[in-house]
Amino acid sequence: MSDSHILVERPQAQPGVMVIRFNRPDKKNAITSAMYQRMTEALHEANGDADVRVVAFLGTEGCFSAGNDMGDFLSYAMSGSTEPPAATLFIKALASCGKPMVSGVDGLAIGIGTTLNLHCDMTIASDRSLFRTPFVDLALVPEAASSLIAPRVMGHQRAFALLVAGEGFSAEQAREAGIVWKVVAAEAVEAETLALAASLAAKPPQALKIARDLVRGKTDEVLVRMDEELVHFTAQLRSAEARAAFEAFMSRKA
Ligand code: COA
Repeated sequence: MSDSHILVERPQAQPGVMVIRFNRPDKKNAITSAMYQRMTEALHEANGDADVRVVAFLGTEGCFSAGNDMGDFLSYAMSGSTEPPAATLFIKALASCGKPMVSGVDGLAIGIGTTLNLHCDMTIASDRSLFRTPFVDLALVPEAASSLIAPRVMGHQRAFALLVAGEGFSAEQAREAGIVWKVVAAEAVEAETLALAASLAAKPPQALKIARDLVRGKTDEVLVRMDEELVHFTAQLRSAEARAAFEAFMSRKA
C-alpha cells in the first residue's frame, strides 16, 4: 500500500488526541491488509503512550469505509490459506484498546466500517451516512464481536436486521438503535468529532480510564466471541459461495 492510505495524526489543536484516518477515497476507503496492520500498530502505540488520551477514527468526505477490500477477500479465498484473516489483529486491538475511542462517520460505513463503531465509545455521524453489513449476502458471518455487542445495544430485531438481513440503517436509525451518539450535518462531522475527542482528552485521565472500564465491562467475552466468529468467518471465506460473491463484485463493471 501507499502508507498514505491510513493517516495517523496527532493534531496540535487537539492535544492528547490520535486521529486514525481512512484515506483511500478512490476505493471508498476499502481496507487492505496493510491498512489493518497500520491501524493495529497505531492502536498499540496509543495504548503505550500516556500522551495519547483518546483515539478518533475518521474517513474522507462522503465515505467512512466500504469495509474489507474485496480483492483481498478474493485472494484469501483462492489462496487456501489457513492463516487468520487480515482484520484479526486489528479487531482484537480495538477490543483491547485502553483509551477512549470515538468515530466520525460521513457517508458509507459498510461491513467493518459499521462494526468498528460498535467498539467506539461515542460515534458522530452525518445525516447522509449509511450503516450496512452485507455479511450474509457475501456468504460471510458477522465479525468483530458484532454478534455479541449489537444485540445488547439494539435488541434482537434490529441486530438481526443489520447483521443477518443486511438492511441499511440511516444515521437517524443508527442513532435510535444506540450505535450513534449524535447526527450532524456532513460539514460538521469532523469538527464535532475532534471537539468531542479533545473534550474527553482534557478530562482527568485516571478517572476517565476507570469510568470507561466500568461502563464497557470486561473485554474477555468480547475476545472470546471474536474467536468464535472467526472460526466460521474463516471457513466461510474459503467457501465456494463466498468466492462466487467476491468474483461477482470484482467483475461487476466488466
Ligand atoms: N473493496 C474493494 N474495492 C472497493 C470496495 C471494497 N469493499 N468498495 C468499493 N470499492 C471500489 C470499487 O471497486 C470502485 O473501484 P473502481 O473505480 O476501480 O472500479 C470504487 O471503489 C468505487 O466504488 P463504486 O462501487 O464504483 O461506488 P458506488 O458508489 O457505486 O458503490 C459501494 C459504493 C460501497 C456501495 C459499493 O462499492 C460496494 O458495495 N462495495 C462493497 C462493499 C462491501 O460489501 N464490503 C465488504 C463488507 S463485509
